[in-house]
Amino acid sequence: NFKIALCLAVFLFGSAALAEKTRYDNYKLVHLTPKTPLHVQLVSEWEEKTEFDVWTRVKTTEESVHVLLSPEAYVKYSVLFTLFKIPFEILENNMQKNFDEQERSMALSRNSRNIVGRYARYTEIQSFIDNLAATSPLVTSDIAGKTYEGRNLKVAIIKTATSQRKVWIDCGIHAREWVSPATCVYFIDKLINDYNSGNALARELLGYFEFHVLPIVNPDGYEFSHTNTRMWRKNRRPNSGSCVGTDLNRNFGFKWLTGGSSTDPCSDTYAGPSADSELETKAIENYINKYKGQWDSYLTIHSYGKWWFTPYGYSTTLPADYTDLNAKAQIGISGIRAYGDATGWTSGSSSRILYIASGGSEDWTYGVAGIKYSYCLELRPGQSGTDAFYGFSLPEDRAPKAGLETYGGIVTFLKAIKP
Ligand code: ARG
Ligand code: ZN
Repeated sequence: NFKIALCLAVFLFGSAALAEKTRYDNYKLVHLTPKTPLHVQLVSEWEEKTEFDVWTRVKTTEESVHVLLSPEAYVKYSVLFTLFKIPFEILENNMQKNFDEQERSMALSRNSRNIVGRYARYTEIQSFIDNLAATSPLVTSDIAGKTYEGRNLKVAIIKTATSQRKVWIDCGIHAREWVSPATCVYFIDKLINDYNSGNALARELLGYFEFHVLPIVNPDGYEFSHTNTRMWRKNRRPNSGSCVGTDLNRNFGFKWLTGGSSTDPCSDTYAGPSADSELETKAIENYINKYKGQWDSYLTIHSYGKWWFTPYGYSTTLPADYTDLNAKAQIGISGIRAYGDATGWTSGSSSRILYIASGGSEDWTYGVAGIKYSYCLELRPGQSGTDAFYGFSLPEDRAPKAGLETYGGIVTFLKAIKP
């Protein structure tokens, strides 16, 4: 009997390798625009349910929510939207179609040895760093730690003999945000190429800063999002009970569990059993602490929304340096414009623009490690306009654009903070 054999195989060899890919047939990406306090309250209540998968939520003057709903959930909630008169539109009728399109474009590029500008896998990114370390005098690497599944957290270090201060950039803390690791890879490649071709800004920056870049903070989750569940967000360490994973960006040890995170191990924003409980979180904190006082900037790269966020995430209280931080973020956005397209980009405190969320990495680097220029960037697509309906599944051919404009934003910002 095939079914029994399959069950036995799954039992014996573990479900991950044999599990079928999660499908998203007729899942709908819905754009909601709540207009009244009741609307806002209803969305906040629905948001607690796993069937109501909020992708982004803006709460500035105009509320705007992207939510992914299964066909069954859509039947239920569209009635409620209509009943309560919450304006809504369907951005994408069949999310599986977006994912298929993404896979098709990736299949065409997969065999290319050059991983710059594509959604490369974990092992490809490790080889990319190893190869640079072996061939470029600018590059060394270090292992910040290991993950639950035993993968390395490999940091690429790009520096010259005259470097004085350090800059940290990390990508891929959330598994499904594929354009993020691709952007770290793009950044490393472009910085080295610009330096080698005599570009004045790259020369100036590398004469003063050394760059420590971790392209995938959450490789276990990242690989799982490629092999099993495209919308996976957390890491892959099992919890007590049957649900897996902690949201690493809710796990950092500053104002942990003070709002915007969950104590439910099944939630996508599960904060973990205690602050800094996760290997990936701890690895970053240890690495930053090892060079305490030497960092001028910490940048953590997510998608999506086109935002350059300052702390804090845990509270709408503005940090002491807010005016300066926001001014420098604006310079960063001018750099995005100079190198690419800054349409839709805004800056400000994440808790004021987006939502309150405690345990985020840039709150820890700002609030505990004392790194003044701590930011969280949310890359393409924006909340509205071109490509918004792709959400996390931005097609791979947009990755070079995201890489280039983000590179432009970061180098322009760094020039502005360099003495
Ligand atoms: N989309 C990110 C998240 O939800 C934004 C985080 C902003 N930073 C923060 N510390 N809350 O994790
Ligand atoms: Zn994220």
